[in-house]
Amino acid sequence: MSSLPSTSRFWIKTALEMAQDAMSTISKYQAIHGDVFKLAMAGRTRYVVIDPDLIDEVLVRQKKKFQKSKTYKELLPLLTGQGMIGTDGEHWRKHRRIAQPAFHKKYLATIYEQKRKVVDEYLNGMLKQPQPVVWNHEMTMLTLHVVTQALMGEGIKGDAQAIHKAMDGSLNFLIQMALNPIVRATERFTNRRKEFYRQKNYIDQLVDSMIATRRREGNDGRYDLMAMLMTSVDEETGETLDDEALKSEMLTIFLAGHETSANAMSWGIMSLLQQPETFARLREEVDAVIGQELPSFDQLFQLSYTRQVADEILRLNPPAWAVGRTVLESINLGGYDIPEGVDLILPFYHLHRHPKYWEHPNAFDPDRFSPERMDDIHPKAYLPFGSGPRKCIGNHFAIIEMLLILAVVAQRFDLELLTDTVKGQATLTYRPVSDIMVRISPRRA
Ligand code: HEM
Repeated sequence: MSSLPSTSRFWIKTALEMAQDAMSTISKYQAIHGDVFKLAMAGRTRYVVIDPDLIDEVLVRQKKKFQKSKTYKELLPLLTGQGMIGTDGEHWRKHRRIAQPAFHKKYLATIYEQKRKVVDEYLNGMLKQPQPVVWNHEMTMLTLHVVTQALMGEGIKGDAQAIHKAMDGSLNFLIQMALNPIVRATERFTNRRKEFYRQKNYIDQLVDSMIATRRREGNDGRYDLMAMLMTSVDEETGETLDDEALKSEMLTIFLAGHETSANAMSWGIMSLLQQPETFARLREEVDAVIGQELPSFDQLFQLSYTRQVADEILRLNPPAWAVGRTVLESINLGGYDIPEGVDLILPFYHLHRHPKYWEHPNAFDPDRFSPERMDDIHPKAYLPFGSGPRKCIGNHFAIIEMLLILAVVAQRFDLELLTDTVKGQATLTYRPVSDIMVRISPRRA
């Protein structure tokens, strides 16, 4: 049995490197140590696993030996309560069973019309804005509108910017607490915790009032995710979600359901506009399959090249760049003994760019997902939505949203990218943190 490669004993150095740039830090140590190694970070030591078969062991084949990592379980509930994403065991299973029907493709088809209307109106509005626009900001607002509409069947009441700021600010505080040893050590001397609770209260009040209004007015004739979640009955226990549980799932869906999609559409536009021939090919397909009408639900699934583009966007810059698990009982992974209680990081970003499994891994090449080349892809090396029972519940929702936005952008806009490079930051998601400036105008030809 070989001993597990580890980063240096100067744990503070590794911890700071991770806080500053998790992507490069993991890449650097992967190059030195291989696909399984220990990131020594004192109380926060993590084991990194990048091998696709070993990741499959953790998420699927030996899933019972793992649960969501402490980072999710200690921090997320502070913001979202006991929502699906940060819980485990029977509680999680019950919530997942209750929520699942709301995310079936068949059900999503019934709320598609509303989603299409939001995308149509928002993108039209972007043409009227002063140019250029900050694309990543616009995508955050658009996806926030989409998820709000899907949840409540109506647009955002109140200030979308303020809602986003409160969500983002409070989540950012939790992430910094998890990742940055300096923030953790100095937090009590600052106003950060107070500000976190101020932002959290703002969001809580908003969601409480949405639920109270709906309980008062009823779901009559409404087909939105909130109505589904309110009325769905767990087939095994006969239970439904009470107000507290409903709120935690609404907050979870807000959180999980907009930033991920926004990041995808932001990284995606960079890749597409840096390769005009790819964008032109996508547009050709949209013109041929749909023309100038708004896409119908079924038409979206006839867009085979656009789907390849969406898949490649999620490969190159997976918005959920990593997932974390805690080891419940000591296990041997790939010849290494991993003790009980440690946290694993499974970085999909590095898996998706692993040179052993991907040809020209850093190139944007939607054709790698073409039917002719699909067989070349290792079946466990592409996991933008995770795998196993905790796989993203919103995967169809997200793909529908991406295809719709890509198609309507191609139908309507001429775009000019004014930004050469973008700085990314890996926290809970992988997001662009500098502005992506894009000049948009009505399509000419
Ligand atoms: C491109 C967009 C998206 C990506 C890349 C993504 C990715 C992921 C991943 C990787 C997980 C698994 C986490 C783990 O195993 O620890 C996850 C879970 C989840 N996602 Fe998504 N997601 C996206 C969009 C959405 C949307 C649109 C929604 C809802 C409207 C959503 C709701 C959720 C929820 C509730 C979970 C937790 C599921 C559970 O624990 O059972 N996601 N997502």
